[in-house]
This record gives sequence, structure tokens and C-alpha cells, in this order.
Amino acid sequence: MSPASLASFLDQARTTVDSALDRYLPTPPASPALVCEAMRYSVFAGGKRLRPVLTLASADAIDRRNHDRPLDASAALALPAACAIELIHTYSLIHDDLPAMDDDVLRRGRATLHVVYGEGIAILAGDGLHAEAFTLLAREPPAEDPAIAARKLRVLRVIGEAVGSAGMVGGQAIDLQAAGQAPGHALTLTAETLRSMHARKTGALIRASAVCGAIMAGADRVLVDAIDRYAGDVGLAFQIVDDILDVEGDPASLGKTAGKDAADAKPTYPAFFGLARSRQLADECAERARQTLTDAGLTAGWLPAIADWIVRRRN
Ligand code: IPE
Ligand code: IPE
Ligand code: MG
Ligand code: MG
Ligand code: MG
Repeated sequence: MSPASLASFLDQARTTVDSALDRYLPTPPASPALVCEAMRYSVFAGGKRLRPVLTLASADAIDRRNHDRPLDASAALALPAACAIELIHTYSLIHDDLPAMDDDVLRRGRATLHVVYGEGIAILAGDGLHAEAFTLLAREPPAEDPAIAARKLRVLRVIGEAVGSAGMVGGQAIDLQAAGQAPGHALTLTAETLRSMHARKTGALIRASAVCGAIMAGADRVLVDAIDRYAGDVGLAFQIVDDILDVEGDPASLGKTAGKDAADAKPTYPAFFGLARSRQLADECAERARQTLTDAGLTAGWLPAIADWIVRRRN
């Protein structure tokens, strides 16, 4: 049965994703206990699960467009990609929090992984999650059908490109350069390089999340492109709001330290444009995202409400 509101869709999707993550994550004795425990500490610390939610919501939107209703089969095909992306996202948070990067002690309402397990284990847990994600994508869903195998291969490529040097890693590198954390390679940002940095470090994985849901649900090129444009705007809005919340939010609801971007001279939208203009820019992104859905006939389902949630969220 289809949920009645975004809140119930989010509840349902998070429960499905969390129990799949529990099944997919390695356990001893195949993997040493400590690294298993460290990976689970960060994965199950209580993230919003935005990215897997987007994967499942995109598959759902494609089904509603192509079949007038969501299909259980599409959700099952998209679930491994949804989980793999959450594993990669969690790895990126563990590494982002390391002393060599943002040096944060609080994440998802808990002490960061390196504070509890030490830097070496935190680096390895991140590396482990990254590798587990690609193994999962190759393994699940099982695909005797060549059409499904072809979708899986496209998904592997989309995710690999999104998190590699052209995407997340590239964006994080620009972040460090702009914050003066890459000795001898300082970078002064313009509005355009700031946008491109956000699009890479955060937008690329958010785009991949939505695109992979659409691909696994069998969307054609035109619909995949529309979902990609929608998620590009959602992704930019998401990081602008993340920057705003670092200024305005409180650690209790954020689950992470606030006020740290300004203290560390991080390249953010509020630092560059001020708070009011940043809010306006995030709203414009959400409006563009909704318009893209309308133009593509993809308004049925949860994607429009997710765009609103992203700009209104307080955590
Ligand atoms: C935080 O992402 C890192 C950014 C890319 C801004 P989220 O705000 O989605 O973190 P969780 O998954 O809910 O903890
Ligand atoms: C992190 O951006 C982006 C990635 C993890 C790729 P931030 O550094 O702003 O994220 P938070 O604020 O620590 O969650
Ligand atoms: Mg960072
Ligand atoms: Mg950070
Ligand atoms: Mg931030």
C-alpha cells in the first residue's frame, strides 16, 4: 500500500533501508570484528537517509509515470543501490570529520568515529564502506536477465563517476584548497567555483542517488535526464541549507557541531552571499526542481515534497 504522506513514506523507506543495510554489512568471522563494529557505529548512528530515500522515491515516481502506480519489483531492484549510496555517504562523513579534513568531534549525535576508535580505524572503516558499496552493487540484485544486468552496469558507472575525482572527491579537494588546508595550493573562490564545488562535493552523489533509482526502475533517457536535473537542484539546495544550518542551527538538533565553518574559514554560501541571499538561492533551486518535475510529468509521488523538505529542514 502506498503511504499517505511524505512523513510516512520517509518512515517506511528508512525502515526498509536500515534492515537491508543490516543484512548487507559484513559480520565476523568473514571480516575482523573491530572493523565491522566501527562501520556499524557510523552507519547506524541515525542519519536522515536522504540519499536512499531519493533513490526509492525516484523509482516510485518512474513507476507512477510508466505504470500509474508504484511496483514492488522496482523498489526491490533499486534497494541495493540505495544502500550502497548510504554506505558511500557514511564513508565520506567519516573521512570529512577526520583531523586532517574538518576535524569534527560530533556526528549524527555521537562522538565521531576517530574519537572513539582512533584515526587509523576510522580511515579503514571509511575505506571498507566504500569497497563494500561497490561489491554490493556488483552482487545485488541478482541479474540473470541481461536487461537488469545492463541497468546494474550503468548504475556502477554513475556512482563511480559521482564519487570520484570529477565528483565528491574533487569537490572535497576544492573545499580544502579554498579553506587553506592544501599547503601551497590556496584557491580564492568566485561564485561560479563555489557553485561547482558544492555541485561536486554534495550534488554529485545526490544526483546519482535519484538517477540510479530511475535507471533501476527502467526509465528511458528523457526521464532519467529530468530526474538528474531535478536532483542537481535539490543537491545544491541541500548543501546551501547545510551551510546555513552551520550558522543558525544548534548541535542538539543538527547532531553535529555548529559554527565551525566560519571558525575554519570554510567556503560556504553564507560566507560568500550572506544568509538572506543564501536562503533565497536555496528556495530558487527548490522551485526549479519542482518545475523540472512538472515539465517532465513526474509530479506524482514524493519528489516534489522532498524538494520542499530539503529547504525547510532543521537538521
Ligand atoms: C551531511 O549530510 C554532509 C553533507 C553532504 C552536507 P547529511 O545531512 O545528509 O547527513 P546525515 O546522513 O543526515 O547524517
Ligand atoms: C561534507 O560537507 C561533504 C561531504 C562529506 C562529501 P560538510 O563538511 O559541510 O558536511 P558537514 O557539515 O561536516 O556534515
Ligand atoms: Mg567538509
Ligand atoms: Mg564537515
Ligand atoms: Mg557543513
